[in-house]
Amino acid sequence: MVKVKIDGFEIEVEPGSTILQAARKIGGDIVPPAMCYYSSLKGSGGKCRTCLVKVAKSSEKDPRPMPKLVASCSTPVQDGMEVENITNPGVLEARKAVVEFLLINHPLDCPVCDQAGECKLQDLAFEHGSSLTRYEEERRTFDKIDIGPYIQLHMNRCILCYRCVYTADQLTDGRVHGVLNRGDAAEIGTYIENSIENDMSGNMIDVCPVGALTDKTFRFKSRVWFLNPMDAHRDCDCCSGKATVWMFGNEIYRVTARKDEYGEVAEFICNTCRFEKKDTADWVIEGPRHIERTSVISQNHYEKTAGDVPGTMQDN
Ligand code: SF4
Ligand code: FES
Repeated sequence: MVKVKIDGFEIEVEPGSTILQAARKIGGDIVPPAMCYYSSLKGSGGKCRTCLVKVAKSSEKDPRPMPKLVASCSTPVQDGMEVENITNPGVLEARKAVVEFLLINHPLDCPVCDQAGECKLQDLAFEHGSSLTRYEEERRTFDKIDIGPYIQLHMNRCILCYRCVYTADQLTDGRVHGVLNRGDAAEIGTYIENSIENDMSGNMIDVCPVGALTDKTFRFKSRVWFLNPMDAHRDCDCCSGKATVWMFGNEIYRVTARKDEYGEVAEFICNTCRFEKKDTADWVIEGPRHIERTSVISQNHYEKTAGDVPGTMQDN
């Protein structure tokens, strides 16, 4: 095991762990935000720079600080390493600059975006963003593209984190989309709008940190904070069948995989569970989902107001 100190908190982690993984073991405010890293996707991380931290001491053997801020999601810890995140004003300043950079092309359409309330970029902009933009040039705009019958891509909102590409690569066979071109011309291409028909393709919606990939069966139906997330399961041949169903009264408005406090999915679900099972009779409803991440959807204390009858909430 190697010892690492992050913002004064010491922890021992397995050799080869990254600074971000060590910080998540400590938990709380000292965990750097992450827009592109996703623990279950191989190769993710290193794209968005939101997780930058300062390494004030490289290791016990070499106590020199690292000259530049480093991406915590892809920098392995060394024994005796000391890291500064929220205790370093330079890191917070850099994070602000990264948010400004990510927002250069991202439209401020939270009031009509399905991801509002669950959006990592919205959270980041709230914590580190500025209320004014210095950007005067025209933003990139794209037409919306249907990727198959269930998923819509709205490239205007994409921050090119590559998570959906890794998901398609690692969970489905025959990936038909990827990042085309480079620099400010880079975009998610669907190879002449090929649809992605694989059974697990809907997981791209769950991993997208912004509202670029949305569920067509849920688009504009409701704001997420009006819905009650409930843990539910069903017998499924294709996936674990464990999901979160988002209910309004006794109606299921959408189905997603279960996410942890970092918004990451532990068990991916199939398209049948996600898009085709919207009847309460399809599911065994276990009870209100505990939303671990700080968000507008964790503010309504559903767990305290849940009624005795599964699937019905008293405060709706
Ligand atoms: S569509 Fe979403 S998941 Fe895919 S690269 Fe863009 S922001 Fe990331
Ligand atoms: S989360 Fe580390 S660079 Fe994106």
